[in-house]
Order: sequence, then structure tokens, then C-alpha cells
Amino acid sequence: MKAITQDAYGTTDQLSYNDIPDPLPGPGDVLIRVHAAGVDPSVWHQMTGEPRLARLALGLRRPRERVRGWDVSGTVVAVGPEVTEFRSGDAVFGTVPGSFAELACAPAAKFAPKPVNLSFEEAAALPISGTTALVGLRDSGRIAARQRVLIIGASGGVGHLAVQLAKHFDAEVTGVCSGAAATFVQSLGADRVIDYRTEKLTGTYDLILDMAGNRPLSQLRALLTRTGTLVLGGGENGGRWIGGVDRSLRAQLLSAFTKQRLRALLALPKPEALRTLAELAAAGAVTPRIDRVFALSDAVAAIEHLTTGHPRGKIVLTVG
Ligand SMILES: NC(=O)c1ccc[n+]([C@@H]2O[C@H](COP(=O)([O-])OP(=O)(O)OC[C@H]3O[C@@H](n4cnc5c(N)ncnc54)[C@H](OP(=O)(O)O)[C@@H]3O)[C@@H](O)[C@H]2O)c1
Repeated sequence: MKAITQDAYGTTDQLSYNDIPDPLPGPGDVLIRVHAAGVDPSVWHQMTGEPRLARLALGLRRPRERVRGWDVSGTVVAVGPEVTEFRSGDAVFGTVPGSFAELACAPAAKFAPKPVNLSFEEAAALPISGTTALVGLRDSGRIAARQRVLIIGASGGVGHLAVQLAKHFDAEVTGVCSGAAATFVQSLGADRVIDYRTEKLTGTYDLILDMAGNRPLSQLRALLTRTGTLVLGGGENGGRWIGGVDRSLRAQLLSAFTKQRLRALLALPKPEALRTLAELAAAGAVTPRIDRVFALSDAVAAIEHLTTGHPRGKIVLTVG
């Protein structure tokens, strides 16, 4: 099968469009024909091996997984022994190790049925970013109706889903994005938009979800109510070795000494979140917006667009 592979950490120069052997499903596995694969910052982390701390999970000297990509949607081709929940022909979405390929294989728990009202491209845009938005707002953030919620990075992959989810939870939402994306963020349901390039962040919030990661804790805490919650979700601003981990650790430590709840977010894929996202998507409460679609063979251009193109919503590869 064709796949985007990588044998050493580095830039997009390390990626190749290659022929490799088809994966085979083992006990408990589902093999799918990939129709679409999501492109998000986790792909960049896999490719560069940065921050270096992440190599403990990704592979110390070289990427442990040769094929890039996680988010996926497709059609079941075969199931291994012990799989009862899926059968050949089912349309599914989820996360796999190596979605930038014609075929992908993972344990059945990593998949859920694709909502019929989502295209394969939309479904492939949902797993990682949707789980992060859902877990960040619902679990870490304990979002409640009528709360004032600030979403920093509201036009991005996670942020644009977080705006929709926060509105679904009946919150009053302020989105922070660049001015060029203001109309897009309003179209997602945001009550107010702040242009981070020209305006100061103002207001008082019960919950802040920070997906940009470049503001000091003190500045974010000053925007919170006395008992408000700050969820630190993203940002690439902490340097090559530890990324934003130091800010997250400081927040967790400080949280013990203040009435404000300060939480670092690590949203790992989990079956419950994937199924909840499928239900929310089926009900029309959340719909991934696709900024641009690239062919599998153009994965390099897709990753470059993610890092430099200021996409609104998500980038997706189509396969086959
Ligand atoms: N903690 C977790 O479990 C988890 C899970 C997924 C992702 N992440 C991390 O979360 C971050 C965001 O992910 P993503 O998929 O949403 O990335 P993305 O699609 O690249 O979106 C990033 C967003 O942040 C905005 N932004 C950039 N600088 C900003 C600033 N100074 N103030 C406000 N907004 C700013 C960008 O807007 P412009 O394009 O207009 O500049 C863009 O909308 C990444 O660092 C990613 O690694 C963490």
C-alpha cells in the first residue's frame, strides 16, 4: 500500500511517499481502508520529535511508528478474531498509529461508527481535536450553563470545535483569534470575538480554555473569577526540550494554593469521548469545518499549510 513514512526525526524533508506492506489485523483489531486522515499539530510533534520530552512516548532515537498520522475515517475491510462490534463494510472513524496510508489497523476500541451526516473528511477531522475540546471543557473545565467562557485559539483545529461545544453547553462564549478569522469564529456561534493582534484580552470569565499557550499564568488568572477554572491545552512556546510543560506544572502546583482551579490538559484518545463526539455530531451540535483538503501524496504541503497557513478549522488528507 501507499503511505507517508519517516525513518528519522526532522522536517518535512524526512517524509516519503512510499510502498510498504499492508498491515494485518491481529486478535481484537480492525483493518480499514482509509478514506480521509486528519492533519493536526500532533503530526508535527511526531515528525520533529519535539518537544524532546515527547520522545519518551514517540521513540527515543527515531519515530517508533514509521507511518505518520493519527486521525482517520474509512471503511472496515476485515476484523481480527474477537471483534464483534464491527464488520466488513462499516463506515468508522477514530485514531490509529499511521493514518497517512491506504490501509490502517488498530484495536476495535479506537474506532466508533461514523455519524451518517458527516463526510469522511469531516469525520477524520474530529477525533483528536474534538476529544481535546470535549475533555478540556467538560472534564477539566466542568463547564456549566450560562458560564462566561473564553476560548483562546478559537479559529484553530481544537478551538473551532470548542466554541461549538461551549455553545452546546449553553455558555456565553468569547473567542480569541486573529481579525481575519473573526467572521469564521462568529459563524461557529461565538457571542464575542477578540482580535489578539490588535486588542487586549478583557472581561471576566468562569472558564478559560487556552489553546495558544503563549500568555503568562498571571495574565490569564487576572481574567478569571475568584473561583474560575483555567485549562491549559496548547501552545508550542516552551522550547525544544519540554514545550509548554513547565507552565502546566507551575499551574498544577499553584492550584493547591488558590481558589481558582488551574488545570493542565492532556487529552488522550478514549472510546467514551469518541462515541460522545459521534452523538453530538449526529445531533448537529458540533460539525468540523474543513479549511483545506490535500491528497495523501501532498502530505508535506498539508503539514506546511498547518504550520504557516493560519488555517480556519481543520486540514484533511483524502486517500484513494
Ligand atoms: N493538551 C492536549 O491534549 C492537546 C491536544 C491537541 C492539541 N494540543 C495543542 O494545542 C495547540 C492548538 O492545537 P490546534 O490543533 O487547535 O492548532 P491550530 O489548528 O494550529 O490552531 C492554533 C490556533 O491558535 C491561534 N493563535 C496563534 N497564536 C495566538 C495568540 N497569540 N493568541 C490567540 N490565538 C492564537 C491560531 O490563530 P491564527 O492562525 O489566526 O494565528 C489558531 O487558530 C497546539 O499547540 C497543539 O499541540 C494539545
